[in-house]
Amino acid sequence: MAIIYDAQKETFHLTDGTHFSFILKTALELDGIKTLINTYWGPALGDADLSHLNEDNKSAASFDGFANHNSYAYPARGRGDFRPVALTATGADGARCAVLAYQGHAILPGKPGIPGLPAVYVENEAEADTLSIRMLDGLTGLEVTLRYTVMNDLHALTSSVIFENQGNHPILLENPASACATLRGAYDMLHLHGGWAKERAVERVPSLHGIREISSSRGASGHHHNPFMALLSPDATEQHGDCYAMNFVYSGSFRLQAEENEFGYTRFVGGMNECFWKLMPAEALHTPEMVMVYSDKGLNGMSQIYHQLYRTRLCRGIWRDTPRPILVNNWEGTYFNFTPEKLLAIAEKAANIGIELFVLDDGWFGKRNQDNCSLGDWVVNESKLPGGLAPLVNKMNALGLKFGLWFEPEMISPDSDLYRAHPDWCLHVPGRYRNEQRHQLILDMSRTDVQDYVISAVSNVLNSANIEYVKWDMNRNYSEVGSALLSPDHQGEVHHRYMLGLYRVLETITARFPHILFESCSGGGGRFDPGMLHYMPQTWTSDDSDAVERLFIQYGTSMAYPVSSMGAHVSAVPNHQVGRVTTLEMRGHVAMSGNFGYELDLSSLGDEELAMMKDQVAFVKEIRALTQQGRFTRLVSPFEGRFAAWQFSSEDQSEILVCLFRRYAAANSPMQFVKIPDIDEKRWYVDQDGREYHGSVLKHVGVRPVFEGPGAKRMEDAASVIFHLKAK
Ligand code: GLA
Repeated sequence: MAIIYDAQKETFHLTDGTHFSFILKTALELDGIKTLINTYWGPALGDADLSHLNEDNKSAASFDGFANHNSYAYPARGRGDFRPVALTATGADGARCAVLAYQGHAILPGKPGIPGLPAVYVENEAEADTLSIRMLDGLTGLEVTLRYTVMNDLHALTSSVIFENQGNHPILLENPASACATLRGAYDMLHLHGGWAKERAVERVPSLHGIREISSSRGASGHHHNPFMALLSPDATEQHGDCYAMNFVYSGSFRLQAEENEFGYTRFVGGMNECFWKLMPAEALHTPEMVMVYSDKGLNGMSQIYHQLYRTRLCRGIWRDTPRPILVNNWEGTYFNFTPEKLLAIAEKAANIGIELFVLDDGWFGKRNQDNCSLGDWVVNESKLPGGLAPLVNKMNALGLKFGLWFEPEMISPDSDLYRAHPDWCLHVPGRYRNEQRHQLILDMSRTDVQDYVISAVSNVLNSANIEYVKWDMNRNYSEVGSALLSPDHQGEVHHRYMLGLYRVLETITARFPHILFESCSGGGGRFDPGMLHYMPQTWTSDDSDAVERLFIQYGTSMAYPVSSMGAHVSAVPNHQVGRVTTLEMRGHVAMSGNFGYELDLSSLGDEELAMMKDQVAFVKEIRALTQQGRFTRLVSPFEGRFAAWQFSSEDQSEILVCLFRRYAAANSPMQFVKIPDIDEKRWYVDQDGREYHGSVLKHVGVRPVFEGPGAKRMEDAASVIFHLKAK
């Protein structure tokens, strides 16, 4: 049993038995309230009794009173707890004060879903155990059910909360958290920050006195902060040390906070942001889910738990376990300026070199020849594509290529037939200017009529031809957040209602077209989160396709997200974002460390380059089961110097791929050896050139990139080399 209840001591011990324990217990407070305390999170323990630590300070005589000392499992504002809280609730008396008292609990096998929201799932009940703990604020009638699930063999803990108003008056909930935990000691914070074309840079900051917060109020998880935060013991590295992480299964506004108090206790809490929900009597609200991971094996140990969990029990559908097709996307090849002939010229070259899927990006609908019109008018522009999509798709299929299509369904251009017909269908505040970003407004996805329109408009196109891939884009963030259909006192719900509406649309469309591979996108990687991955197993990682910059972006993304979720393309040189020239080999090695594709005009390339690409494609087909389903380990961080390195290993370590990269050259540089930790040190391995190495040598001495040290063979600046090792 993964959840052990001790009725005498009233403790709940949640453990997978190997990797972690998370312990809760009831505690009687001075005012007679039986509350719930989180006494422990960390390595797996054999017993949950921590009473010798005597940590509950129940003295009313101290300056702070008692509430500021306790490690509440779900702290509420108004009781004298001055740290970041999990809940702010306001009842009929107008006071922002709630007191949650333990009522009872249930332990059940399996893992229930969360209505209308993405979540980690199980395929049979033995995979997980779930604890539900019921708390009540007696004055307002707010019932709060904390729900924790232990994923037994996947070593993760999930947490979400259900609110039910059992009183007679509305209760306002402000940013109700999905998870809260207390750690002892001082921690560094690691998070992923960035912006457009520079997503998910790794930043580590020491010491947490004062609240550290990362958040989004953009209506999307965003380019700027990812809904992921890890607290690390100061000695933690990629391979060693304690990591406690939270990753939010949600694609909208979020916040994650951590604060160490004067007693050396760190509160770690997170959930929705910009959510002001007026819960009416008899109504319920479910929060999204937080995935909590503890690892004592450093950042790689933490990431590998997330990777396996997301690959196997967050992503769904036939594409979850199917090798992803190698694609060519026309965006950087043609932008808006294409004809069927041009697209087919690219497609012919693509088919010749073994590419499997052609993706037509922006510009095929309405009258769209630049980014200032037609979003919402999902009707083929027949002056550009005579006869619609079907003739083009049929020709692509005849070449042996699947066909994929770009949409941006959540948006509306002011210059569109849709906007002219429904000017109130966008998010807006009456009487205020409607701010555009990229010349567009956002559809009000909280409205059922808008959701239904999007479902039918996208479905009509998908039914009109043999479309087998969709890129679902979203290219701006919120402003003037208001909905025409909600009363003034419910306008604070728009952020979350939008997400509920979007998830309904995604659930409906992905269920209706189960054979289609969906890839999400938001100006590159502006909505790269576990919420989207539940519907779409891959995301376009960044609009920056430069091979050197991608080292940073893909390295940072891998902190929480599996390689099988990252779209990565070889694009033209000079690179369109940074102007850098890198070798085709290096661009290939970076892109094959994700879901591989090309994004350039293949019809303009010479035979020599196409022949190299043909070899690249053949090689990717050979290794993609390993890169997409294998275990990924980061070896050298690009954030720390001139190099980057990572490895992929099959489950049984019989096949290993090591990728070494140099960002820029340096004269007379020392030799760099890179050790390969995830390898069987008792076996012999042979690389792609027939060279043999003993596993122990690879593990303890490593490999050396040919471009470094005495006798270095490469003179180019950015360079790469791979070792494809197979056990003998
Ligand atoms: C976004 C995407 C790009 C491309 C363009 C099309 O920026 O990230 O990949 O699809 O939109 O307008």
